[in-house]
Amino acid sequence: MNKLRLTLSLLIALAAVPAFAQTSHTPGNPPSMMREHAAREAYIDDLMRRMTVDEKIGQLRLVSLPAGANPDRAGFMADIREGKVGAVFNTVTPKDIRVLQQAALQSRLKIPLFFAYDVIHGQRTIFPIGLGLASTWNLDAIRQTGRVSALEASADGLDLTWSPMVDISRDPRWGRNSEGFGEDTYLTSQIGAELVKAYQGDDPAAPGSIMAVVKHFAAYGAVEGGRDYNTVDMSPLRLFQDYLPPYKAALDAGAAGVMIALNSLNGVPATGDKWLLQDVLRKQWGFKGITISDHGAILEMIKHGVAADGRDAARLAITAGADMSMSDTIYGENLKPLLDSGRIGMADLDRATRDVLRVKYDLGLFRDPYRHIGPPQNDPPDVNAESRLHRGAAREVARESLVLLKNQGGVLPLRKQGTIAVVGPLAKSQRDMMGNWSAAGRTEQTVSVYQGLANAVGERARLLYAKGANVIDDPEIVKYLNLYEQDVDVDPRPPAQLIDEAVAAARQADVVLAVVGESQGMAHEASSRSDIVIPDSQVRLLKALKATGKPLVIVLMNGRPLALTWENDNADAILETWFAGTEGGNAIADVLFGDYNPSGKLPMTFPRSVGQIPIYYNHLNTGRPFDPLHPDKYTSRYFDATNGPLYPFGYGLSYTTFRLSDVALSDPSMPRGGTVQASVTITNTGNRDGATVVQLYIQDPVASISRPVKELKHFQKVMLKAGESRKVTFVLDEDDLAFYNAQLHYGAEPGLFNVYVGLDSQDVKQASFTLK
Ligand code: BGC
Repeated sequence: MNKLRLTLSLLIALAAVPAFAQTSHTPGNPPSMMREHAAREAYIDDLMRRMTVDEKIGQLRLVSLPAGANPDRAGFMADIREGKVGAVFNTVTPKDIRVLQQAALQSRLKIPLFFAYDVIHGQRTIFPIGLGLASTWNLDAIRQTGRVSALEASADGLDLTWSPMVDISRDPRWGRNSEGFGEDTYLTSQIGAELVKAYQGDDPAAPGSIMAVVKHFAAYGAVEGGRDYNTVDMSPLRLFQDYLPPYKAALDAGAAGVMIALNSLNGVPATGDKWLLQDVLRKQWGFKGITISDHGAILEMIKHGVAADGRDAARLAITAGADMSMSDTIYGENLKPLLDSGRIGMADLDRATRDVLRVKYDLGLFRDPYRHIGPPQNDPPDVNAESRLHRGAAREVARESLVLLKNQGGVLPLRKQGTIAVVGPLAKSQRDMMGNWSAAGRTEQTVSVYQGLANAVGERARLLYAKGANVIDDPEIVKYLNLYEQDVDVDPRPPAQLIDEAVAAARQADVVLAVVGESQGMAHEASSRSDIVIPDSQVRLLKALKATGKPLVIVLMNGRPLALTWENDNADAILETWFAGTEGGNAIADVLFGDYNPSGKLPMTFPRSVGQIPIYYNHLNTGRPFDPLHPDKYTSRYFDATNGPLYPFGYGLSYTTFRLSDVALSDPSMPRGGTVQASVTITNTGNRDGATVVQLYIQDPVASISRPVKELKHFQKVMLKAGESRKVTFVLDEDDLAFYNAQLHYGAEPGLFNVYVGLDSQDVKQASFTLK
């Protein structure tokens, strides 16, 4: 931990240094950087002169070699030795990686491979899923998860991660919400940038650092109907205003790479979208790094209906600017004939090859191909050793990621005494606790809710356990979820028997904890849902538990906002825990017993029902806004349901209470290029210490285009002792007021602005100023 702290402070000190990938190419860099840049280009020029066309094409091939796959059988080793592979992903131990690198160094030009992996929320220590991290609203804590991920991944011989995933989503049906940071552009941008800096440190080649590849460019989170891989069609305004900024923020923070989205955007598959990959990414944003297609995406352009065959798809991708091709042989088979027939130019191939070589150069691999792999004598004797984990960091961030949604009559925190019934199909699940994309995390090293509770109470309280229900009863769905990985373990006993057992446990208990929700595989890639309720089998269990009359606490595990109307009406308390990672069970116990006062806030709106989707806090007002205080017929509303969210964006309770003062502005107007300070005083009015998140939103009520009712622009997490008050000040500048107008020009328009400050997006205090 000390070493980690040291690295962290170093990182914080260096965070101010201009970021790596960008600065080394930007005019105006210090002379040493310019020299380094020139040296790199000279090195690559020399290499390129010596490379054959086949060797160049080889550099563009990215191959997946998962643990247990025999590289010889698939002919990969021979290909690597012949320089026909540029990089490998999914191999995760120094020992396995070294063998592949040794083979690469037998190739004619000895160009090393780089090694990548989906280190999304941890490598060996698994942190909460993206939505959980976002719920902390704590950038320091998030940075720490990125640092630990990089330390562990580089110690495993890895060079690069396919992360951060910053796809904005306003549709809970989409399974990949779990990987991202929610619906908000600003929050997601902040988190993405923080993770990039944490992964890469001041130098991604350094031991303890890895390169970041931001994904999925662009707007993958806006797939129609929340159905994975589906079409994305959106106005340029919305694209530039809401969906693109997080990618840009990650690149500005120095991300070395971009993974291209699988979807089409306004009719053009991203993988073949010259406008996106060149005009926006390279020309407008000045990106100089590497672009990587997503899994098999180049070939998929045939099914998208923009390429006639593989050759056509390869031509489209390379000319659009997709450098590396993931998990297919399409470049290998087609680029040479395309060159020979003049359908692509050598410049296309050279540009892509150079991008790959630059990454390898920047990773220090030409100087030392074993840079992250290390010598064999340093190989961990046991890659899964407990000593390689960072449990302290995992527990700290996990407790901050939990969101208290309801707590009626102060049923929480629980006392560590009496009898507690712990029921539900997820209560003892270690696999689900890790969530999806759990990298090299180990199920057996993960703390389940039950285990965490048992650790916390010791001999002081009696825990009763019953599974109570299967996650889902539909055998077809179980089959689907178990297709590529054992996701759902089915208890073969009849549902009624499972429920009876749970009810019997509940009857003997003082309080019932029902650990319910989704299996991790239900909130994943290829895991879109047409409804977002807790599956029937578990709701039946909840209803039976409710009927016992015992206090009912729902502990949710899930990877998307759920529709929880019955639960909200009937449970005494609800704690949203997402998938909280290696230390999840301990962190959940910390909150349930009040050893940590919950401080998480929702990064995504929770609708009342699937029919309200898309529902998001920063919507436009419309010409006929619905007013719940004066409900009128001809307004923008549903007539068959309560309007508005069940839990708004930014919402989350605490065991203490907070009072927010009115908003004080330093000035009634902001001069161009100037600032206005907005201050509030926050007081902990309860009798427990606790943290909360002060959120500042802006609205431009009269502009050349309709602007959202409010948009998050600043936030601050504050820890207050019981009774303590603190003044929180936000400095607003013109950029906070700026937006893309109908001509896609970015800037702030003069006039009135509303400032809203609150502890969620709905319950806010207002002040106003003008921009001159
Ligand atoms: C996913 C990417 C991931 C890649 C490699 C794809 O299916 O869309 O997010 O990085 O696989 O595992």
